[in-house]
Amino acid sequence: MYNKIIREKAIISVIGLGYVGLPIALEFAKKIRVIGFDISEERVEMMKNHIDPSEELVKEDFENTNILFTSNPEDLKQAQFHIVAVPTPIDEHNLPDLKPLLSACKTVGKAISKKDYVVFESTVYPGCTEEDCVPVLEKESGLKFCEDFKVGYSPERINPGDKVHTLTSITKIVSGCDEESLENIANVYEIILKNGTHKASSIKVAEAAKIIENTQRDVNIALMNELSIIFNRLGINTYEVLEAAGTKWNFLKFTPGLVGGHCIGVDPYYLVHKAKQLGYHPHIINSGRFVNDSMGGYVAKQTVKAIANKDKNIRNSHVLVMGFTFKENVSDIRNTKVETIVKELESYKVIVDVVDPYASPKEVEEEYKIKILEKCGKNYDAIIVAVNHKEYINLDENFFKEHLNKDGILFDIKGIYKNKIKDITYLSL
Ligand SMILES: NC(=O)c1ccc[n+]([C@@H]2O[C@H](COP(=O)([O-])OP(=O)(O)OC[C@H]3O[C@@H](n4cnc5c(N)ncnc54)[C@H](O)[C@@H]3O)[C@@H](O)[C@H]2O)c1
Repeated sequence: MYNKIIREKAIISVIGLGYVGLPIALEFAKKIRVIGFDISEERVEMMKNHIDPSEELVKEDFENTNILFTSNPEDLKQAQFHIVAVPTPIDEHNLPDLKPLLSACKTVGKAISKKDYVVFESTVYPGCTEEDCVPVLEKESGLKFCEDFKVGYSPERINPGDKVHTLTSITKIVSGCDEESLENIANVYEIILKNGTHKASSIKVAEAAKIIENTQRDVNIALMNELSIIFNRLGINTYEVLEAAGTKWNFLKFTPGLVGGHCIGVDPYYLVHKAKQLGYHPHIINSGRFVNDSMGGYVAKQTVKAIANKDKNIRNSHVLVMGFTFKENVSDIRNTKVETIVKELESYKVIVDVVDPYASPKEVEEEYKIKILEKCGKNYDAIIVAVNHKEYINLDENFFKEHLNKDGILFDIKGIYKNKIKDITYLSL
């Protein structure tokens, strides 16, 4: 397969052109011919006009590439090496929602022929590729797994907004259904990678590696969040404790915060699901999820308590929330935990204003029924800086004084103004 690809006798297709799929498709398209397929015609139209709907890539990233953007599944038949990068969300019960993935398998299954390759990049639980995806590919194609067509799994590590750890600069895990496919898949990815691949011994090992990268992060952040609840009761600042503890050579540098987005707050649930299927009920992973999912409510309650402690009425008090996206300096609002702060405050009849320099007001309104204001007002009883966007980092105490009323409170979730606030009542995680 690798030889065919470099001799331009085989074409690569990428199915699902979001945060993960589009950069991969364009990177390959700098070297070889690519078919970029997405079910969203609207997104395909944007990409044809060199616009990244996820707002991560710029026009220049589309230049000098050999790519056909399409929403016609028939076009996939031209390709022989298929990369699947569709979403793997959870449902309202925090269970894996495999609908997009299985629907992509149906589409690919209809397009593959003998000797083709299908490599999955979507984050899944260990076993999902072979137990859930392969049967659909076999059924739709009428072909036999590993005999007629090969399958692999290569998890994605890109981190939206991160300009250092980019797709081509990191080591990429690859795996295949046999030795031959592993070699071919590694060679194909190495066409675009500067730091090469790590060859996992099996598809399940590669799936598990990805899911624990995010689970480890989730559990560590949960520990920091729990510590911040304890330190708050002790009346000490968590970030000061972490700074002191961080002078030890082997102390891990995690900080408390909201855990949202489509990866860290979601992937551990995939592992929990699989573990339960196997008769083990994970305690640590579930506890981490519980603590992290509770933090938005905790921030809101602490704010309400602080307002009440100033002898103010909670009903109709006025709070400004700065930042709505799931992390700093990106426009991504998927699974943002700032929503839980807003909704919890509103449940106390607090009037909440929200501003964010990155989030699209239209998307926020559609997704969460929350209005993003163009400009913040004045006379707030509290301001919560929920996301450390670069626009907020250098704000000083005067800014907050100007926007707060008498006895106003600043809740600095990420501790970015630590040691800078002298007169205002200051809270942080
Ligand atoms: N975004 C990240 O930073 C990141 C990092 C690592 C891993 N992942 C994983 O990668 C996968 C993709 O995530 P993403 O952030 O790129 O998602 P995304 O929501 O940005 O994009 C997914 C794209 O797939 C399309 N799509 C949905 N169903 C489809 C189907 N059946 N056929 C074809 N296209 C379809 C959507 O229209 C969309 O354009 C997920 O499993 C995610 O967990 C994401």
